[in-house]
Amino acid sequence: MSIIKINPEQTYPLRQKILRPGRPLATCFFQGDEQAKHFGYTIDNTLVGILSLYEEDIPGQEVKGGWRIRGVAVDQEFRRRGIASALLNIAQDVVISEQGHFLWCNARVNVSSLYLEHGFFIDGDKFAIEGVGEHFRMIKTLDPDDRHCPNNEELNNEPLSKF
Ligand SMILES: CC(C)(COP(=O)(O)OP(=O)(O)OC[C@H]1O[C@@H](n2cnc3c(N)ncnc32)[C@H](O)[C@@H]1OP(=O)(O)O)[C@@H](O)C(=O)NCCC(=O)NCCS
Repeated sequence: MSIIKINPEQTYPLRQKILRPGRPLATCFFQGDEQAKHFGYTIDNTLVGILSLYEEDIPGQEVKGGWRIRGVAVDQEFRRRGIASALLNIAQDVVISEQGHFLWCNARVNVSSLYLEHGFFIDGDKFAIEGVGEHFRMIKTLDPDDRHCPNNEELNNEPLSKF
C-alpha cells in the first residue's frame, strides 16, 4: 500500500461511485479542485481511498487559516482498516507544514465518529445538503496557543465564530 498525490481527474471515479452514486460525473467536480491537493491510498496500484484538501476558510466566520477536507471515500471492501484515518493524518501533516490553523469539513452525520476520533469537534447544528444527506460542520484546531484556535475542551462545542 502507499499514499500518493493524485490529480483531480483521478478522484472522480471513486467520488462518483461512493459519494454520488447514480449521479452525473459533473456532480463530482468540486469548486477549487484544480488548486486543491488530492491524496490517494493505493493497494496493488489500485486507488481504493481518496481525500482532497482545499485552502479555504469557513464561510461567514472571521477566523482565518482554514483548510477544508472534502471528498473522503474508501472503497466498500477496504473499509474499517484505517485507510481514511491514514489519509486524514496525511492531510493534517500537510496543513501543519503549510502553517494552517485548522482543518474543517462538512461531515456526513453517519460517519461523524471518524472525525471525532481524529480530534474534530462539531460546530453548530445538523444541516442538510440536497441530494447527499445530513451533515455536521466539524473542525479540528491545530494551534491551541492561537487565540483564534482554542483547544477543543475550551471550545466545548461552541461555534468557532464566538472566539
Ligand atoms: C467514511 C469512510 C471514508 C471511512 O473510511 P475507513 O477507511 O473505513 O475509516 P477508518 O478505517 O479509518 O475508520 C477509523 C474510525 O472511524 C470510525 N468510523 C469509520 N467508518 C465509520 C462508519 N461507517 N460508521 C461509524 N464509525 C466509523 C470508527 O471509529 C473507525 O474506527 P474502528 O474501525 O476502529 O471502529 C468510508 O466508510 C466511506 O467511504 N464511506 C462512504 C463515503 C462517506 O461517507 N464519506 C465521508 C463523507 S464525510
